[in-house]
Amino acid sequence: MNEKMSEIIKYGSTAKWLHWVIGVIVIIMLIFGRTLESLELAEREQIIMGHSGLGTLVLLLMIIRVAWHISHETPGPTQTMGEWQVRLSKLMQGSFYVLLILQPIFGILQAMYLLDYEVLAFGVIDYSGMAANDVDKARLFHICHSLNSVILSVLVIGHMGAALYHHFIQKDDVLRRMLPFGKVKTRSESVEGQ
Ligand code: HEM
Repeated sequence: MNEKMSEIIKYGSTAKWLHWVIGVIVIIMLIFGRTLESLELAEREQIIMGHSGLGTLVLLLMIIRVAWHISHETPGPTQTMGEWQVRLSKLMQGSFYVLLILQPIFGILQAMYLLDYEVLAFGVIDYSGMAANDVDKARLFHICHSLNSVILSVLVIGHMGAALYHHFIQKDDVLRRMLPFGKVKTRSESVEGQ
């Protein structure tokens, strides 16, 4: 590894909170989002209030997460990681940031142009009232929202697989340093993130 090692050895509480809250919401939405289409319109309208509200929350949390990432140093690659692993993990992380911001944006755009039913995020934010109905745009953003959700699902599975691989096969700190009460093997000169 030719990069300068980061002095930070584990994520701080802000980064951990953001990671796990976003992660849990997104996994629930990826699983239950697939069932939306099979619901009756009236029931779908009810469930979409929660779906669009949680999705909007993900967008806000992702904006905070990007700002946090830019303004803080994060733990670097571990010594167990080869060059290809470092590259792949950076690619995965970058893709997550982009796709997790695009997913709610596509959802909101779809909701704005939708004809079939109203989308009121948490019963308060009226996305349907923000633009005139447009069947072509609604269909386009539905496809984007749907395709993006498939790519995200593959990434989530890959991400979980990688975390388990690090923990059980490489036996390093990659998973532990993101766990709420995870203890890492400390280096004497190391410091914790915020
Ligand atoms: C991280 C955030 C989000 C995730 C992971 C997510 C996930 C999903 C998934 C998996 C589907 C099913 C796609 C399909 O049937 O192929 C879906 C549908 C949908 N989502 Fe989202 N979504 C998110 C955010 C949003 C937001 C913010 C809105 C609107 C404000 C939204 C509105 C919708 C709508 C209107 C549908 C279509 C439901 C139908 O079939 O009638 N989503 N979402």
